[in-house]
Amino acid sequence: MLSRQDELKNRVARTACDYVTRVLPPGSVLAVGTGSTVNFFVTALAAARLPLRGAVSSSEATTARLTEAGIEVLDPNTLDEDFALYVDGADEIDSRGYMIKGGGAALTREKILAARCREFVCIADQSKAVSVLGRFPVPIEVIPMAANHIARRFSAGEAAGAAGSPVARVRHGAHGGPLVTDNGQHILDVRGLQIHDPLAFESCVNNWPGVVTVGVFAHQRAHRSLLASETGVTETEYPGA
Ligand code: 5RP
Repeated sequence: MLSRQDELKNRVARTACDYVTRVLPPGSVLAVGTGSTVNFFVTALAAARLPLRGAVSSSEATTARLTEAGIEVLDPNTLDEDFALYVDGADEIDSRGYMIKGGGAALTREKILAARCREFVCIADQSKAVSVLGRFPVPIEVIPMAANHIARRFSAGEAAGAAGSPVARVRHGAHGGPLVTDNGQHILDVRGLQIHDPLAFESCVNNWPGVVTVGVFAHQRAHRSLLASETGVTETEYPGA
């Protein structure tokens, strides 16, 4: 049986599938994110049997799911055109469509797809909506040899004007050790930040040597969100995105 939150994720995933069916022309390439909400979306997509040319994927996990669902996964490097639609979840989203992402460690590939899409549709349950980003620890993908130095910069308050508490993400399971991303890098999760200016925060931390990707999606914010609550799914378009 699904938990209440999973029911909401499933509901928004099905709404997103209807949206894709409505707006995506046959023969298009769909960009697909990562996470539990997206997993429901892939299931809905498989059932809808849309006439897609294929999908581009933001993680090895999503690639496996898409393949299992019979949807061909294409290499973005073989495609010259941008993608009409990118559907992905988020860990937090504010009223301007700025997000924190990377809870599933796929932030780098997610940002690459977000940068190549004409429309980013964020799907989530309502619990992800916040007024200020930062309650969720901000994931930062880092080159391992720079991890401690980057952690010290957060502790010293060099980003967002306030000290954050960085923790290296570890792998679940018997062997533990640092989590290694699909790109062979590590993740720092930074707690205790209040990000009032997501664009400035992202630009600032992006400039630190050894940072691969900042889990704040401000320059690549959502164009539209579908947020599920007990009363239904609310669709919001973010002007200017
Ligand atoms: C993965 C992500 C996910 O979109 C984010 O963590 C939300 O996941 P979920 O749908 O499981 O709540 O950014 O890197």
